[in-house]
Amino acid sequence: MKIGICSDHAGLDYKTRLISYLLSKGHEVVNFGTDSDQSCDYADFAHPLAEAVGSGEVEKGIAICGTGNGMAMTLNHHAPIRAGLAWNTAVAALVKEHNDANVLVLPARFISYRMAVSCVRTWLEARFEGGRHQRRIEKIPVR
Ligand code: RB5
Repeated sequence: MKIGICSDHAGLDYKTRLISYLLSKGHEVVNFGTDSDQSCDYADFAHPLAEAVGSGEVEKGIAICGTGNGMAMTLNHHAPIRAGLAWNTAVAALVKEHNDANVLVLPARFISYRMAVSCVRTWLEARFEGGRHQRRIEKIPVR
C-alpha cells in the first residue's frame, strides 16, 4: 500500500521509525516532512498530506505531533479527510471500523513508540464495518 506520513518536530522520531517499519512490511511510503528536529508548525506538513490522500496520490496517511490534536484539526479541514486520533489499539481499530479514518493521527508525547507501531498495525489491518457507520460518516461534511 502507498502510505503518506508527516510529523512536526515532536513526532519526528516516531515518524522516522514508523517509515522503517512500514518499508519493512512492504509498503511504499511518501514522507511529507518534517525532517528536522527544529521547532516547526504542524499545519505546514498536514496540508500536503491531506491533499495527497484527497487526490489519491497515497491511499492512506499517518500524522504525528505531540498531542495529535494540531494534526487532526488541520487534516479535518479537508473535505475528503477523516483523520482520527488513536492512543491504544482498541481505538485504532475502531477509528477504522466505525469512522473509516483515512488518516491515523498519533500523539507522540503521550504514547510509547511500541504503542504507536501497534496502533498503525491495528489500523492498517482493520476494515470499515459500513452499515449504520456509513450513514454516520456521510453526515460529517458540512452541507
Ligand atoms: C509542539 O510543541 C506541539 O504543540 C505539537 O506537536 C502538537 O501537540 C500540537 O497540537
